[in-house]
Amino acid sequence: MEKQRGSFTNKLGFVLAAAGSAVGLGNLWRFPYLAAKYGGGIFLLVYLVLAVTFGFALMVTEIALGRKTRLSAVGAYESLNKKFKFLGYLSSLVPFIITPYYCVIGGWVVKYFTVFVSNNVSNAATDDFFTGFITQPAAPVIFFIIYVLLTVGVVMLGVEGGIEKASRIMMPILVVMTVFIAVFGLFQPGAIDGLIYYLKPDFSRFSATTVLAAMGQLFYSMSLAMGIMITYGSYMKKEANLEQSVRQIELFDTGIAFMAGLMIIPAVFAFSGGSEEALGKGPSLMFVTLPKVFDNMKMGTFVGAVFFLLVLFAALTSSISLTETIVSIVRDKLGWSRKKACLVVLVFLLAVGIPVSLGFGIWSFIAPLGMSLLDFFDFISNSVLMPIVAFLTCIFIGYIVKPKAIIDEVEVNGTFKNKKFYTVIIKYIAPVCLVAILIFAVMEAMGVIVV
Ligand code: PFF
Repeated sequence: MEKQRGSFTNKLGFVLAAAGSAVGLGNLWRFPYLAAKYGGGIFLLVYLVLAVTFGFALMVTEIALGRKTRLSAVGAYESLNKKFKFLGYLSSLVPFIITPYYCVIGGWVVKYFTVFVSNNVSNAATDDFFTGFITQPAAPVIFFIIYVLLTVGVVMLGVEGGIEKASRIMMPILVVMTVFIAVFGLFQPGAIDGLIYYLKPDFSRFSATTVLAAMGQLFYSMSLAMGIMITYGSYMKKEANLEQSVRQIELFDTGIAFMAGLMIIPAVFAFSGGSEEALGKGPSLMFVTLPKVFDNMKMGTFVGAVFFLLVLFAALTSSISLTETIVSIVRDKLGWSRKKACLVVLVFLLAVGIPVSLGFGIWSFIAPLGMSLLDFFDFISNSVLMPIVAFLTCIFIGYIVKPKAIIDEVEVNGTFKNKKFYTVIIKYIAPVCLVAILIFAVMEAMGVIVV
């Protein structure tokens, strides 16, 4: 019997809510730095191919799993096969790894917002400003704590609805601003080389690492392989067209990531020369590049302040949905009250996030696998755990539950246009590629291969 479960009031409601969770720092902060680092056009191309194949198949699977079972990850996998309960746990582990460091970046966004509000743009536009900030012992930790308190506060008070409503207004403004900043950047001398770098694939830069990076980014950005979309699906109405909704979420998420790349990569060429060093900045890229753009813009202080405020909202909707997931996992498991679970999760986020924050400064001697703590957690979740979850999900659906179960769920309303395509990906293409990529990733991390 189907459990009573609230559902989204209209079709667009589901797409907007899922897109609100999907669009966040992954699109604005992570996608551009990976694209810059991994060869520009070739990364973009690999990402797009993966989005319409793996991304599509996995998102259909997860949403259908949720809608079919009306349960979250652990329950959903278990209800179809008891032996696969562990897969629910494994995917639920991912938000625990991501959220603390997500909040560290959220803290950086808060910092930049305050910098622009206090009119310090030219200062922020200097090369060493960002490093100067993250290597300090206290400042980044304080901003991280502010961000965590904002996130957990919203979850504890149960006012997510308000944030979601606000973000429905903020999101479209963010999109318009991103387009505006991208166009402004493209008119700066030298930017066209960056545009070419971003759009024209250089096949000589294709490697397993590119694919792995693009795949990890795909999962991260679309909130896949971490149980989130199963939960969203569990609230989706049967009348809604699942395949079409997936297409819309994907289009929205990819569109924003693409625009963020367009906003940042040509600007790197215009203001920092497009050298390998400038492009390979990693997590700091957005924070180093955008102040330079705003510094060259009339009313750049104002535009920058509004922009970072909007980024803050996009980040908050994501960290709130991540934190809610963690809180509900803890509550389901331990039967705690919402308040108690929130407080314990708060302590957890602080306990893991503070070392991550300090990992750029006084604790930089902690370098697992030669990475900063942030990169390490990012690597474990995106390049190891998520591909494993995705692989096992493919095996589970492809060979145990069988794709028909998912196809039937999609076809509750209308026909599943790409069902053959879906089946081939879930059964053959995705599992083989995932294993290959995973092996490369582990070998690379262990230094067996050097890319
Ligand atoms: N997809 C989000 C992003 O791209 O920033 C990250 C995320 C948000 C993952 C919410 C999971 C989630 F529940």
